[in-house]
Amino acid sequence: MPDRLATLLPYPVRVQAQPGQFAVRRDTPIAAGPEARQEADAVRQVLAALPWPPAPPAPLAGIGRSEAALAGILVDTDRTLPAEGYRLLISPDRMKLTAADPAGAFYAAQTIRQLLPDEAFRAAPVPGPSWHLPCAEIEDAPALEWRGAHLDVSRHFFPKRTVLGFIDMLAAHKLNRLHLHLTDDQGWRIESRSHPALHRAGSHRRQTLVGPAQLEPNVYDGTPHGGYYTLTDLAEIAAYAAQRMIRIVPEIEVPGHASALLAALPELAPAKGARYEVATGWGITSQIAAPLPETVAVLEEIFGELLGAVPADCVHIGGDECVLDDWRASPQVEEYRRQLGLPSHEALHAYFLRQVADMLADRFGVRTVVWDEGFASTTTGARLRDDTLVMAWRGDDIARRAALAGHDVIASPVLPTYFDYSQAGDDKEPLSIGGPVTIEDVAKLRPVPADWPEKAKQHLIGTQFQVWTEYIPDARALDYMTFPRASVFAEVAWHGSPAAWTHQDATHNDRPPLRDRLAAHLNRLTAAGIEYRPLDGPHPWQQGGTGPRRYQAGYSSDEVTRHLAQLAGD
Ligand code: ACM
Repeated sequence: MPDRLATLLPYPVRVQAQPGQFAVRRDTPIAAGPEARQEADAVRQVLAALPWPPAPPAPLAGIGRSEAALAGILVDTDRTLPAEGYRLLISPDRMKLTAADPAGAFYAAQTIRQLLPDEAFRAAPVPGPSWHLPCAEIEDAPALEWRGAHLDVSRHFFPKRTVLGFIDMLAAHKLNRLHLHLTDDQGWRIESRSHPALHRAGSHRRQTLVGPAQLEPNVYDGTPHGGYYTLTDLAEIAAYAAQRMIRIVPEIEVPGHASALLAALPELAPAKGARYEVATGWGITSQIAAPLPETVAVLEEIFGELLGAVPADCVHIGGDECVLDDWRASPQVEEYRRQLGLPSHEALHAYFLRQVADMLADRFGVRTVVWDEGFASTTTGARLRDDTLVMAWRGDDIARRAALAGHDVIASPVLPTYFDYSQAGDDKEPLSIGGPVTIEDVAKLRPVPADWPEKAKQHLIGTQFQVWTEYIPDARALDYMTFPRASVFAEVAWHGSPAAWTHQDATHNDRPPLRDRLAAHLNRLTAAGIEYRPLDGPHPWQQGGTGPRRYQAGYSSDEVTRHLAQLAGD
């Protein structure tokens, strides 16, 4: 039984095994200490949803046997614990759970779930023994406040039930942010009552590119693809996530990656009278919204609807991979730039993002997140708002510069947090955009580089993995690409530092080696029905085969490293 402690993932900060077991049942009483009502509710919510084995039959009346008083769980708070932290004291006759806040209580309950048999990850009871917890003292708290997952629902649309299932798994791994990439060239996924063309025209494309864009001739599947979430769906997704201590970070991408936006609202394009279509292929397009006040006004309406449904504290506005040619060609944009006295179109890029961020702060009280190009363009003299968060996808150098400039930064480097990259470099894998990014690579992620100045370290508030979905067409492919890399990521995000993969690497810390814990953790994923990639490679039915999902090498990790170094030096 104590071995169960050695399977926890993420591993708690301190674990001390104790002798004995605590028998736990559906009807184990949960009592709340003073001021711990919300914390007790969080624990009850997790435990009530578990597939408890049926209770043993009640003793026959009149035989004179009285059951020992049922051992209980006491939930209490200690506001001096670090945020999202908890302590668990499990002894044979009682369990005491002390949490800093409701999130801490929720995570304590997730730890309890992991200490139960793998069946605790199924949806309904199956035959098996009654449940016990190993006695232990556990103390735990995350090192990083932003432990995020990004899901691109634009390149491929995922139905609401898939997103809810994704949220369940993030919660099981103690991740606390879901960044939904809701718009891009290939589809607009948000209902708009003020601009219904967005979901009517922007939410679907004629067909989809099959295979890599660089492979000539391009082949298309000839099949329409689309879908969108109603505002009520988004409210439901956000509420479901909030019950699981996850905040949604919705992204409306501007000014680039705008084909779907302009297909619906061509009046926002720099070129008047032009027609646009929702993109059917991959890569960077030149479609860009005009950086004019009219665009900011429409964004205010659209964000107003979105934030009416999703009570976000941070929203993402993109800012990456902007091709500024259409701005340069537009007399109206050029005139606007001159009026503002801005030295370049790059400065106008930073200025525009600033306008949108100011609008979001003033009108809705939310903070803005941008991809790191939004910060890079401030070298032109324009400044982002100080409270704008920078998602650093192009590596440590830009992350460090943004942090030193005083922005809160989220480490989301392509290598190794882009889970659209293949998990191995061989032709058993299905088609992906590049790679490989192996689980060992993810285990080595160091979100906060040791040699950074203290000021930069303080602004590195978290890390996030990204699932871009050009080559992830459905929920099965999503499971395959996300897991088990997300499990490894969760360990690194919780501790804010790399994890020792084997005993040999154990210099990093004294946690049980991640490889062993992951092997045990996969049984939980199996019980939950997740179609993860097995550690020794894909099942035959997960392989790329010789058809449209045939493995192609894509961008190699070396190419990506060189390319990003070059970009970051811009
Ligand atoms: C990105 O990968 N363009 C953020």
